[in-house]
Amino acid sequence: MTTDSSASPLSAIILAAGQGTRMKSGRPKVLHELCGRPMIHYVVDAALAAGAADVVVVVGHGRDEVTAYLAREFGARVRIAVQETQQGTGHAVRCALPSLAPDMERVFLLCGDTPLLGAAELTRLPAAMGTSPLAMLTVRTVDPTGYGRILRDSDGHVVGVREQKDASADELCIDEVNPGVYLARVPFLREAVSALRADNAQKELYLTDVVELASRGGGVCSVAADDPASLAGINDRAQLCAAEEVLYVRIADRHRRSGVTVRGTARVDAGVVIEPDAVIEHAVVLRGATRVGAGARVDVGSVLTDVQVAAGANLKPYSIAQSSTIGVNAQIGPFSHLRPESTIEEDAHVGNFVETKQTIVRRGAKANHLAYLGDGDIGEGANVGAGTIFCNYDGFKKHRTEIGAGAFIGSDSQIVAPVRIGVGAYVATGTTVTRDVPDGALAIARTKQENKEGYADRLKARLKAASKK
Ligand code: UD1
Ligand code: CA
Repeated sequence: MTTDSSASPLSAIILAAGQGTRMKSGRPKVLHELCGRPMIHYVVDAALAAGAADVVVVVGHGRDEVTAYLAREFGARVRIAVQETQQGTGHAVRCALPSLAPDMERVFLLCGDTPLLGAAELTRLPAAMGTSPLAMLTVRTVDPTGYGRILRDSDGHVVGVREQKDASADELCIDEVNPGVYLARVPFLREAVSALRADNAQKELYLTDVVELASRGGGVCSVAADDPASLAGINDRAQLCAAEEVLYVRIADRHRRSGVTVRGTARVDAGVVIEPDAVIEHAVVLRGATRVGAGARVDVGSVLTDVQVAAGANLKPYSIAQSSTIGVNAQIGPFSHLRPESTIEEDAHVGNFVETKQTIVRRGAKANHLAYLGDGDIGEGANVGAGTIFCNYDGFKKHRTEIGAGAFIGSDSQIVAPVRIGVGAYVATGTTVTRDVPDGALAIARTKQENKEGYADRLKARLKAASKK
């Protein structure tokens, strides 16, 4: 029998070759996302956080997609083993064993479809294992349907796992189940999986049969799960949605405990970073690689995707932004739309019903109402009046608008790009700018106003008479 080696190197095998039929999807099951990340990502993270120095993921269905994702996100920290045909969980482990690093003494065996499993639960296995060849988590549940049942002898020792499809009527009543989370000693595991046989209802090699082998050769160390909810396996989209709800609460609470105010039903994706004293209001959605600086405020209903928000910025309700940068103390919204590559610098204001795209609004510049600012560069301290439109597109190409520092653009102006408006220049209200405006110049292009004395009454009388005909 192996001696205790709780400090020896750990590895992990994660099973992810199954089709996931019940997802009814063209996408492999483990790539279905919750809180902005595929479920396999969480399992790999948990294994690494629990101390696995070597992670092998078994892929099969959709293997190219799964492999590409893992390579992109984890690089050399994760290796791939291929299971060509899915002949069961035991067969999947067999396929992975040749890929294990040679110096590994113990290995976690996990499933790619348990995204709520955290490192805290996992690390209880090496802590409890002692000299057993196998340690496993067990869970009591009110509805054991679908899970393998834990079989114990009269002394309470685990002696096996019975799959639902192989269980007798009595065994089906057992409410202690197998969540599919194990830690095995590698020499034991190699021997045990090579001894597996497909003499069962599903004609598969069951990994669960190694439990009986362990019980006959040194004993199984069973650990009751602390947090049964975290062991849920995801088989369909209803379960995926339920797990995502749990995860959103966990993420929000993690930010709250690190000094962020997160109100109501704000949804913060797993990869989002938020600094202390930021306020994330009710019904805000923060996605992707978004980052919110200290003391910034993101108000009700705003949706930010891959957005960098600097300290002290204030995003008023219903601001929508993507792949953009918002500077220190800048003010956005309500109802602003920052499309990709918008840069709103320090102290700049972008107000209601203003849309920007590939545009820089430099320090202290303001566009407070109703504007389209595409492909532009708005100089420091410039003021862009209500209703201004950068006419950036001629039906074939996009063109740039440049506005100098301190310039004033009167309301309802159209700036026909490409064009440059000089430093300190003044564009009169209602002007259509088609030529460059020199520094300090006034541009005015609109028809002169004419007032006809007393004409209003005559006009009304005529219109009234006409309406009665
Ligand atoms: C398995 C366990 C069951 C346990 C349950 C927990 C076995 C025989 N049964 O059943 O005791 O209660 O998990 O959720 O192990 N996979 C492969 N290759 C295969 C088959 C499966 O990689 O050939 C992967 C799947 O992608 C999945 C995981 O193994 O990630 C579990 O497979 P699944 O078919 O969902 O097993 P269950 O029937 O749920
Ligand atoms: Ca399953």
